Amino acid sequence: MSSRSSGPAGRWSAGPLGFSTRGRNPVKELFGKLADGTEIHRWSLENGGTRMKVLSYGGIVQSLRTPDREGRYADISLGFDTVEDYVAGSPYFGALIGRYGNRIGAGRFTLDGTEYRLSVNDGDNSLHGGAAGFDRAVWDVEPFTDGPDVGLRLSHTSADGEQGYPGTLDVRVTYTLTGRGAWRVDYEATTDKATVVNLTSHVYWNLAGEGSGSVHDHELTIAASRYTPVDSGLIPTGEPVEVAGTPFDFRTGKTVGADLREADRQLLYAKGFDHNWVLDKGATAGPEWVATLTDPASGRTLKIATTEPGLQFYSGNFLDGTLVGPTGRSYRQGDALCLETQHFPDSPNKPSYPSTLLRPGQTYRSTTIHSFT
Ligand code: GLA
Repeated sequence: MSSRSSGPAGRWSAGPLGFSTRGRNPVKELFGKLADGTEIHRWSLENGGTRMKVLSYGGIVQSLRTPDREGRYADISLGFDTVEDYVAGSPYFGALIGRYGNRIGAGRFTLDGTEYRLSVNDGDNSLHGGAAGFDRAVWDVEPFTDGPDVGLRLSHTSADGEQGYPGTLDVRVTYTLTGRGAWRVDYEATTDKATVVNLTSHVYWNLAGEGSGSVHDHELTIAASRYTPVDSGLIPTGEPVEVAGTPFDFRTGKTVGADLREADRQLLYAKGFDHNWVLDKGATAGPEWVATLTDPASGRTLKIATTEPGLQFYSGNFLDGTLVGPTGRSYRQGDALCLETQHFPDSPNKPSYPSTLLRPGQTYRSTTIHSFT
């Protein structure tokens, strides 16, 4: 076993079922059942001081625990305790998102002369793959250890026409906890018909611990000089604009709350930040650093590196105090934020954006690394 915990011995036995992963890593348990009886499993893994729990339902990161500067662990991702809660209405807590992360305007696009109509689930638009996206799929999960790494291989086949998308899409996502405790996500997909693909992960971060209050004091840096302004339905209007002189300038780092209440039309449309930043590095063959999030109080820092050209920063605007997390505290507006690495929203209808087209014979690949210190 290549597992290596830097936490105090014996602390990793918590959880409602009281199981321990010592000597077995990753470890699998029954988490619950869907209404039709389908069993949902939970996998617990730890490496390099990071501890994570992943569900076969939606590939959901149900819990991600890292130490603060005193070595005290907290779950820094929002989630629920039961399958029922996830099914009843999760705003994508911790989930894998597909086939198309973010919005496609009017839920339609034309490819090779054929118009495709998608599942519309966000006003007039299609969001995060439609009403039954990958966040609601039951994934096949296989554990692995590889040298210093521990991880899970998740796979799922989406049928031709599902949610309106063309092509049978075979998707493989690998979650790796590295020996240094980083969480790496590798996405791969192939199709048997031309289609569009944009996969991402929808973890809600609160580096002080889920249920501990607002993230407005977290400091955020995003390596992007431009972002894509949106209309009132949060669909990009077209060409990127400069962040300089706007609340969207996170190039040198500032608190999430610093400009959040400015009467900027873009912020009013989204009730905060919920926009795509055009990463200065562009699409890259290997993951490159694009964002850093720090909670000065706990000392926890999250750094994100990706191959993707875009980053959706969503400041938890639609959390409204109606959902309750595992610590029994409700989640209110701004109690977490998402940093979703991606291609730009509505790319299938925006020829000037980097292409999200995938043809038979090609392999979609995307990698994002989350490092914790
Ligand atoms: C995404 C969207 C947001 C919101 C959340 C879920 O990040 O960009 O507008 O829909 O998912 O609530």
